[in-house]
Amino acid sequence: MARMNGNERIRQVAPADLQVIHYPDPRLREICVEVEEVDDSVRALAERMCELMLDSRGVGLAAPQVGITVRLFVASPEFTPEDCHVYINPRILESEGSEDGEEGCLSFPGISCKVKRSRRVVIEATDLSGQTFRDDVKDLHARICQHESDHLDGRLLVDRMSPVAKLGNRRALKELEAAFAG
Ligand code: CO
Repeated sequence: MARMNGNERIRQVAPADLQVIHYPDPRLREICVEVEEVDDSVRALAERMCELMLDSRGVGLAAPQVGITVRLFVASPEFTPEDCHVYINPRILESEGSEDGEEGCLSFPGISCKVKRSRRVVIEATDLSGQTFRDDVKDLHARICQHESDHLDGRLLVDRMSPVAKLGNRRALKELEAAFAG
């Protein structure tokens, strides 16, 4: 896997076979690689991820969460199929303000905690037609962009938890670890 480029990683699995993977699956800890070229397989991946996200009642999903370790995520702050944003090779260019908010993660079922994030971010990415675009977003949309960008660098909700939140979620984390071990 390590030597494969982004497009090869995407072409490895049929979109219909993708499922959301859970902590502590080691794929969630990988530093994801860039997508070289936006082609039909990338579009099929994004479409499947939007479907999985909404079916799982999430507002954001990063490619490593379906086991594809490339820099791509989807977001739907309004939680509707019409409001599905796709970010390929995203980069946060600016961030401003700071706000505590409750966060969950589809890779951490049953867990939520307060996380401090910037209130507004400017994010640059490639879209599904291969064009570069910039989004200037705030509040929930900005929070999702930051949470999903974390995923692309192998950074997880559990890393952002305060010691108190970690203690509060200790049982749920242990259960996920036990479920993964088998
Ligand atoms: Co997440």
